Amino acid sequence: MTSLRVAVVTGSNKGIGFGIVRTLCKQLENGIVYLTARDEGRGKEAVAKLNQEGLQPKFHQLDINDGESVARLREHLKTVYGGVDILVNNAGIAFKRASTEPFGNQAAITMATDYRGTLDVCHSFHPILKPHGRIVNVSSMNGVKAFDELSEENKAHFRAIKTEEDINLLLKDFIEAAKEGDHKSKGWPSSAYGTVKLGLICGTKLLGEAVQKDRPQDDILIMACCPGHVRTDMSSQQGVKTIDEGADTPVYLALLSSGSTEFNGKMYFDRALVEFM
Ligand SMILES: NC(=O)c1ccc[n+]([C@@H]2O[C@H](COP(=O)([O-])OP(=O)(O)OC[C@H]3O[C@@H](n4cnc5c(N)ncnc54)[C@H](OP(=O)(O)O)[C@@H]3O)[C@@H](O)[C@H]2O)c1
Repeated sequence: MTSLRVAVVTGSNKGIGFGIVRTLCKQLENGIVYLTARDEGRGKEAVAKLNQEGLQPKFHQLDINDGESVARLREHLKTVYGGVDILVNNAGIAFKRASTEPFGNQAAITMATDYRGTLDVCHSFHPILKPHGRIVNVSSMNGVKAFDELSEENKAHFRAIKTEEDINLLLKDFIEAAKEGDHKSKGWPSSAYGTVKLGLICGTKLLGEAVQKDRPQDDILIMACCPGHVRTDMSSQQGVKTIDEGADTPVYLALLSSGSTEFNGKMYFDRALVEFM
């Protein structure tokens, strides 16, 4: 029998995260799966739905934009299980096309969750990741598209990224330009969501490189992926995939067997490697 494995999925009270919890509950052998949500009521309701299907996820509150909430879950996992085996960073937001929020604010707000909050959870959980641990960051092919839309000069800046601070500074430039309304003339993409998800792909690559350097013997993998165009509230139920189909690639990566080192730091879509920089 394999030893107990603990998985945590962020933003999983609905949408793709809910599908990931459902799939992990079915596929994670000898595992405990945590459905987490920033709102306790919505989270517990989601757990009850899965209970009706005969599945038994646990619940813990988690708001990825709240450092104390992230620390509470980390301490809980450390105390009860001695760490965590699988972290799927699924929580994310996206403004609708029709949103009247000024574009610069959209960029700053999206960055706070889809980039900063997501990487903060990675950093916080990193010390409690057990050997053979997997982190899957749910990004988007919109991040790849955003790279294509960058000016040649900005592409060169992204290719030259060496540290997370390099990414932070690039995204800060983008947000400042977005607030001034001249981001397009300064060589940035039209999509705030895409630009932020590009930052997440770059951050994932750096984290993967760092863990390989710091804990080479521990077989830890940190990866990014796109779930595809999925029918959720984010897509106004317009996608081509069900939430369970959207869960397929994140779960595939989360359950990679020992020795899958070639996956570390990379980006996947429909289980296939995406190379674009
Ligand atoms: N749907 C697509 O076609 C598609 C395509 C590519 C990538 N993605 C990515 O897939 C992920 C899931 O998207 P989805 O379509 O399932 O969206 P969704 O239905 O809108 O669900 C998003 C989830 O994230 C949670 N969340 C947002 N901010 C949070 C925070 N600060 N802390 C904790 N949870 C938070 C939401 O909680 P509340 O219920 O409390 O708001 C919700 O549970 C996102 O990262 C998204 O960018 C989606």
